[in-house]
Amino acid sequence: MSNSLFATGINGLVGSEFATQFANSYTIHSLDIANPLNPVDITDKASVVTALSADPTAKFVLHLAAFTNVTDAWNQNGDTSGIAYKVNVTGTRNIVEACQELGLHLIHISTAYVFDGEKDDLYTEDDAVSPIEWYGQTKADAEAVVQESAIDWTILRIDQPFRSDSFPRLDIAHRIIDGLNTDMLYPQFENHYFGPTYINDFSKVVDWVIRTKTTGLFNASSGEKWSDFEFATAIANNKGFTTEIQRSNLDEYLKTLDRPYQRNTAMNTEKLQSVIDFELTPISKALAEIV
Ligand SMILES: NC(=O)c1ccc[n+]([C@@H]2O[C@H](COP(=O)([O-])OP(=O)(O)OC[C@H]3O[C@@H](n4cnc5c(N)ncnc54)[C@H](OP(=O)(O)O)[C@@H]3O)[C@@H](O)[C@H]2O)c1
Repeated sequence: MSNSLFATGINGLVGSEFATQFANSYTIHSLDIANPLNPVDITDKASVVTALSADPTAKFVLHLAAFTNVTDAWNQNGDTSGIAYKVNVTGTRNIVEACQELGLHLIHISTAYVFDGEKDDLYTEDDAVSPIEWYGQTKADAEAVVQESAIDWTILRIDQPFRSDSFPRLDIAHRIIDGLNTDMLYPQFENHYFGPTYINDFSKVVDWVIRTKTTGLFNASSGEKWSDFEFATAIANNKGFTTEIQRSNLDEYLKTLDRPYQRNTAMNTEKLQSVIDFELTPISKALAEIV
């Protein structure tokens, strides 16, 4: 089997960890809008088809590129000519159509923000999507484009990803460490919940999909549910900070916010864990691996 694959968004927070971790396993052809020599904008279908035709031995497209700023996306709410919709939905449609033309398997990265966050329990793959803000809506629309296609596809949903090393755009764990270091950590919600995704493990999930050619929809976070306060406290304890973490109440915050915000985005990962050939790292252990 060829060890080449195509990827979008590979220089981002999530993709760059996969590229580093599996540098010896895969040759990655990057469709990168910021490449000065060969910029590829996924909203331009012709560029996408040209880029995905460059290596006939490559059989997978790892699609991470997205408009990921949730607040900026909310400012475009409902605007299907806005950049968030264009990148997340039109861009994904271009990639799906190119995969159809070229016979490529698409690994599409999605988010727990496709849910409304009103469920107390963990979200499963059987729960219907119910986005409440524009980023989540565009990602849900993108999932639909992928699922309605006739190509081989795998959708991997993640939530609040963090990695063991530091990346220029700080992830949730490094934002907390930064706040503790500078004594400027915001009070942490006791009643907002999420399902942290350890990007080092998620990279192994992507490798597993490629190795096994597995298709379908998978929640690919840790399968755990943490409140912001619990997560920050665990990081502080782990890293030897003596700072007392301040508590706050999501309901009070929501009164000041002009956009909807999901209360709980933790996902059940039993489906994934029943098929992968390695163990996911418990989040408490992953926090200890952060440098
Ligand atoms: N980060 C999170 O909290 C989170 C949570 C759940 C799901 N996800 C999903 O995980 C995936 C990766 O997220 P991330 O945090 O790694 O993203 P990120 O750091 O914001 O990176 C996004 C990437 O997309 C690229 N991109 C944006 N517009 C493009 C365009 N028109 N054409 C080509 N490339 C374009 C960017 O390229 P440039 O760098 O050149 O601009 C960048 O490399 C996304 O699909 C996201 O929806 C992320």
